[in-house]
Amino acid sequence: MKTHRIAVIAGDGIGPEVVTQGLRVLHAAADRFGFQVDLIEHPFGTEHWLKTEEVFPDDAFEALKSMDAILLGAIGDPRAPVGLIERGIIGRLRWDLDLWVNLRPIKLLDERFCPLKDKTPADIDMVVVRENTEDAYVQKPTFENEGTTDEIASQPMLYTYKGTERIIRYAFETAMGRPRKHLTLIDKANAVRAQSLYTRIFAEMSKEFPEVETAHLYVDAACMRMVESPESIDVAVTTNLFGDIVTDLGAMLQGGMGVAASANLRPGEVSLFESVHGSFPQAAGKNIANPIATINAISMMLDYLGEKEAAAAVEGAIAQLLISGQIRSLEVGEHGTDEIGTMIVEAVSAVAV
Ligand code: IPM
Ligand code: MN
Repeated sequence: MKTHRIAVIAGDGIGPEVVTQGLRVLHAAADRFGFQVDLIEHPFGTEHWLKTEEVFPDDAFEALKSMDAILLGAIGDPRAPVGLIERGIIGRLRWDLDLWVNLRPIKLLDERFCPLKDKTPADIDMVVVRENTEDAYVQKPTFENEGTTDEIASQPMLYTYKGTERIIRYAFETAMGRPRKHLTLIDKANAVRAQSLYTRIFAEMSKEFPEVETAHLYVDAACMRMVESPESIDVAVTTNLFGDIVTDLGAMLQGGMGVAASANLRPGEVSLFESVHGSFPQAAGKNIANPIATINAISMMLDYLGEKEAAAAVEGAIAQLLISGQIRSLEVGEHGTDEIGTMIVEAVSAVAV
């Protein structure tokens, strides 16, 4: 029987409770589809930092490299300085493990979850391919004359040919694997001329993929388009910072932060799976957070690990519960965190194999 070694970082806020439900579903899928999981749980997050002043010790970080995958709950807590734990855990995982693809599917399952008028599941089914290792995110901020009226703050938007080429290639390949074979480049090369690197590489590579129909949108127009005609977007590729922003917008189109999941990939190597949402500290411990985003991330993880049937079963269980109305609403507090976990566990356990 195949064993997958998975590191688990439950993290802050609602992280631990959504991960608890996620792991119940993971175990149910393992039982049903005949594989094993070997879980190594890590305590890192704000609570751990408050107790020990340790963000992410090097030996624990190094040990992740021998795992098959990493599951992350949520990170962020107002008791820590802004960005310290986010950059020290999520940032370090993405950058130091070179997880260069951030894959964020946006798929509406039932129109009652969509805030847009008259949009149906046929209109909202896209994948955002977000670059995950470059941009302002990884540049050093500088503050000249800090605290004075002459202060100058900077953090450059920096893109390399290699970093840009690989993410655009991944996006073309992703588009090739989908029925529509349509790819939209999102940048802001009219104002941020450095991003013309994206525009140029995209145009050049489109010659290698003649079957892929392409489009180009500046990020402001892309936001407008995602609301006005989301059906015009199939696969989109964009920079790290813009990808962060447009995928929160996208999450709302599919029903909110309670369902949006992402995969941070270094294809062929240990990769990270997480919800798109944050730690939602106000809801922590109240059994009101929606665990579906984390469970969707687990489905993406199973797919990555080669457990295709298990991945499809988890995805299908969620779809069936949402479409049938057994999960009535995605509003916070409408269902208990554990109640949704139980529904999905039961649905996965009932799948015929
Ligand atoms: C995300 C998050 C992170 C990001 C934060 C926590 C640094 O918002 O995964 O989208 O900006 O990438
Ligand atoms: Mn974000």
